Amino acid sequence: MNETPTESIHVVGLCGSIRDDSFTRRALNVALQGAQEMGATTQLIDLRAYDLPFCSGKDNQTDYPQDVFRLRKDVSKAHGLIVATPEYHGSYAGVLKNAIDLMGFDQFEGKMLGLVGVSGGALGAVDALNSLRNIGRALHAWVVPHQASVSDAYTHFDDDGSMTNTPLKERVLDVGRQVARFAFLHSSQQSQSFMTEWEKALPNPGGGRTN
Ligand SMILES: Cc1cc2nc3c(=O)[nH]c(=O)nc-3n(C[C@H](O)[C@H](O)[C@H](O)COP(=O)(O)O)c2cc1C
Repeated sequence: MNETPTESIHVVGLCGSIRDDSFTRRALNVALQGAQEMGATTQLIDLRAYDLPFCSGKDNQTDYPQDVFRLRKDVSKAHGLIVATPEYHGSYAGVLKNAIDLMGFDQFEGKMLGLVGVSGGALGAVDALNSLRNIGRALHAWVVPHQASVSDAYTHFDDDGSMTNTPLKERVLDVGRQVARFAFLHSSQQSQSFMTEWEKALPNPGGGRTN
């Protein structure tokens, strides 16, 4: 991949596990390192640090905790996103879905989205990743084709969070590299007019927006 610097790009990682020693968080950190290699600034959003209610879908959100608006603000700053999840019962984690449901088009639309999944079993997190790909489509994000699934996760990380399997680590790094790279291309002057026209070519059918 072309190593064009992407200093102005900000990539946010959303971690779908709130377990203290989460392998998902470790994998997400590796993916964010990939984005940093490309010159991007990064932030890992750890949902343990946000006091979030269940999404009720109600219109009046004035009584939502401030952390809902803080989450939206943090994600809104991103040019590219990496969503990481554990495989839970053949899909992604509920805590992640709730966080995403508290957000919407304002946070995701038109942004590059990379996916990383982690599983305890040998089959990997592909079912979770496929479901997240659908969510990216629904929110009009540009889900990058490359994704990474870390199966048998407990065998792949050192205590310091580094990955021991080099090809797998490269695959996870590539998620971050691609998100940063495509986010840069998306924001560059050359591609801007085409992408702007493309994205406004169809009306957004998503209804109400969240701030
Ligand atoms: C509720 C629950 C459901 C799970 N379902 C699956 C599953 O369907 N397939 C699988 O391989 N592992 C499954 N696991 C194992 C997790 O994917 C594994 O423990 C993973 O490391 C959890 O992510 P974390 O380390 O980031 O917390 C499940 C774990 C939990 C807690």
